[in-house]
Amino acid sequence: MRIPLVAGNWKLNNTSTQAYKLVVEMIPVLRTIRDVEILVCPPFTALMAVSRLTRDTNIRLGAQNMYWEASGAFTGEISPIMIAEFCQYVILGHSERRAYFGETDNAVNRKVHAALAAGLRPVVCVGETLEENETGRASGVVSRQVREALLGVDLLDIDKLVIAYEPVWAIGTGKAAAPDGVNTLLADIVRGTLRGMFTEAGAQAVRILYGGSVNPENAASFFRQPEIDGALVGGASLKAASFVALVEAAQR
Ligand code: PGA
Repeated sequence: MRIPLVAGNWKLNNTSTQAYKLVVEMIPVLRTIRDVEILVCPPFTALMAVSRLTRDTNIRLGAQNMYWEASGAFTGEISPIMIAEFCQYVILGHSERRAYFGETDNAVNRKVHAALAAGLRPVVCVGETLEENETGRASGVVSRQVREALLGVDLLDIDKLVIAYEPVWAIGTGKAAAPDGVNTLLADIVRGTLRGMFTEAGAQAVRILYGGSVNPENAASFFRQPEIDGALVGGASLKAASFVALVEAAQR
């Protein structure tokens, strides 16, 4: 049984003061939630403030990126051990990092290894662009991204991994993918690739999220799909009421 995970990716939003207020607003309802793992991923500068608030709650904390080195002359970067001071999770390879910051499959792979070594659970993002989708390359791209991100990962670490399938054309556009189509792609391509790399039992242990314009209205249609173990949510995670509604939808 995979426990559903609802993760809020705040992206470049919220100062630590705003983050604190937002989480204070969410806590009373989120506290009552059972059987759903709840994750918020604020910007680095808000991690300390939010971690103080969430320490004794059922809310888990994640970062949105990190570098793979532990320390040294890498101006502007944040290391796995710095993140592990506050967080249990880290988002890696988000399509915005791939598109705007040149992150390659190989960089994502190095980060996955570094995160696991620091005791962090990676949320590895994969997904095809509109052009790749329209030219029939979605399956190939997604399977390559999964394979390259997880090269060399030990079977013993498999249950710490989360994959987020986020078609780039669905992110922030209000045009979510069709839930049944996502389910098929997750079964055949994502879990299929995992099976090839990590055995059937290993593949079954990995939680796979959907991301891309998930909102309180469409969330249930995704959570009903057997292969979808939760959601990675951008826009709708920035308001307490909508994030709480998404978590409640996952509980049912
Ligand atoms: P969205 O973003 O929910 O705003 O589409 C999802 C994501 O990028 O993780």
